[in-house]
Amino acid sequence: MDTIVLRDYSETIPYQYEDGKACFLGMDIAVDPRVFIPRPETELLVEATVSMCRAMGWEMPNILELGTGSGIIPLGLTKMMPFSNVFAADISRGALDVARENVEKHGKEGRVHLVRSDMFSAFGEEHLGSFDVIVSNPPYISHADLDKLDAWVKAEPQIALNGGPDGLDYYRTILSRGPLYLKKRGFIAVEVGYDQGRAVRDMFSLAGLSDVRGFFDMNGYERVVTGWKNG
Ligand SMILES: C[S@@+](CC[C@H](N)C(=O)[O-])C[C@H]1O[C@@H](n2cnc3c(N)ncnc32)[C@H](O)[C@@H]1O
Repeated sequence: MDTIVLRDYSETIPYQYEDGKACFLGMDIAVDPRVFIPRPETELLVEATVSMCRAMGWEMPNILELGTGSGIIPLGLTKMMPFSNVFAADISRGALDVARENVEKHGKEGRVHLVRSDMFSAFGEEHLGSFDVIVSNPPYISHADLDKLDAWVKAEPQIALNGGPDGLDYYRTILSRGPLYLKKRGFIAVEVGYDQGRAVRDMFSLAGLSDVRGFFDMNGYERVVTGWKNG
């Protein structure tokens, strides 16, 4: 008689890590346990960013992405806006190795510039006032929620998940430094947790950004927040 082996789901490895790939905006993306696995809500972040650039008539925006992971955001942006120029930063050497593989695979070496940086640390004075857009899908899980994550989410890098005690630490950094790096009329676009939209919109307004708005996913959750620098 055949023996049926039941899988221990407390130690589940995401199938994308087993396959070594995931799909993002129709692109094949190499992934392994050094990087966060692409999510559909991040497609919304890219689409919102592209639609705002197009509404401004920007064909060659200069963009800074913080926390690039596998590189999906710059790959999505340069797929939809082929003349954009994206500086893509991450603190993790392993993530940057995976991002490099993906950037080369999609032939975007001339458009996507990978930088090892602790948030803005590698971006000096020469970059102040130079970006049209700052975009990020930062770690945003609160300490209380980290323990409650499903096993397959826990298999992803801790550094990609941990957003500090209330999950909002990275938004504080992005909003305190980000406006300095934007051109006079530029915008910030971030992905947020399904229940963080209102808190992050308030943070954008307190940071002095204007026309602050949220974008909602197909389930009705606010998953992207954007706001403009004025003058
Ligand atoms: C939620 S993942 C997003 C990855 C990718 N952009 C995506 O959307 O799939 C957050 C990323 O931020 C990076 N990160 C964490 N702390 C950072 C820091 N202090 N500076 C730069 N990147 C950081 C992590 O290594 C991880 O790749």
